[in-house]
Amino acid sequence: MKTLTEKNVAVLNHPLIKHNLAVLRNKNTNTEAFNMALKRISYALFFEATKNLPSKTVKIQTPIKETENEIISDEIDIIIAPILRAGLVFSDVAQFMLPNARIHHLGMYRNEETLEPIWYYNKMKGKFKNPDNTYVFILDPMLATGNSGYDAVHNFVKQGIKEENIVFMSLISAPEGIEKLTKAYPDIKIVTSQIDETLNEKGYIVPGLGDAGDRIFNTI
Ligand code: URA
Repeated sequence: MKTLTEKNVAVLNHPLIKHNLAVLRNKNTNTEAFNMALKRISYALFFEATKNLPSKTVKIQTPIKETENEIISDEIDIIIAPILRAGLVFSDVAQFMLPNARIHHLGMYRNEETLEPIWYYNKMKGKFKNPDNTYVFILDPMLATGNSGYDAVHNFVKQGIKEENIVFMSLISAPEGIEKLTKAYPDIKIVTSQIDETLNEKGYIVPGLGDAGDRIFNTI
């Protein structure tokens, strides 16, 4: 289902994902249909993003027989980190799939001239108790310049989280953003459903789908 491009970059390659991406890209798709298509793709991205979570073996009694099964290790901490505001679109699926995760919202908006992120919200409470065993999923549908992605990853790496335990999950990525993240943090994993052509002069992904936040929240 996935194509591996660079090391640690997984691109989902599946007809249902392509179909839903076409819905998302269409400028005539309304907000409801847009969010439904995004949710369908979110599940696939999330399965790929979480596939290396550590597990442990437990014995389970079925109505028929005792059997050994793998469950997610209870020795790990999981952080879901949506980048506000567009990243919120992934957070209900992420929380549904990993109900014990902690959610850290990362509030950044883009300076439209410099394209650099400006932080306005980051309330991480204290240090991580268990940094070696903490797994972080950063959520942002558009990996464009990579500037906010870089800041988000840095926010966790500087607190001792291992790069290899960080996944950046995006719907559409630009080559520029992938390059920025993979050069700075070669051991993180990027999971995306499509790599587009490039960025335009305003830092929007081409062909992309426009402003994801505006389309998700109907603020066009
Ligand atoms: N953010 C968006 O919402 N769209 C882009 O194309 C780039 C950044």
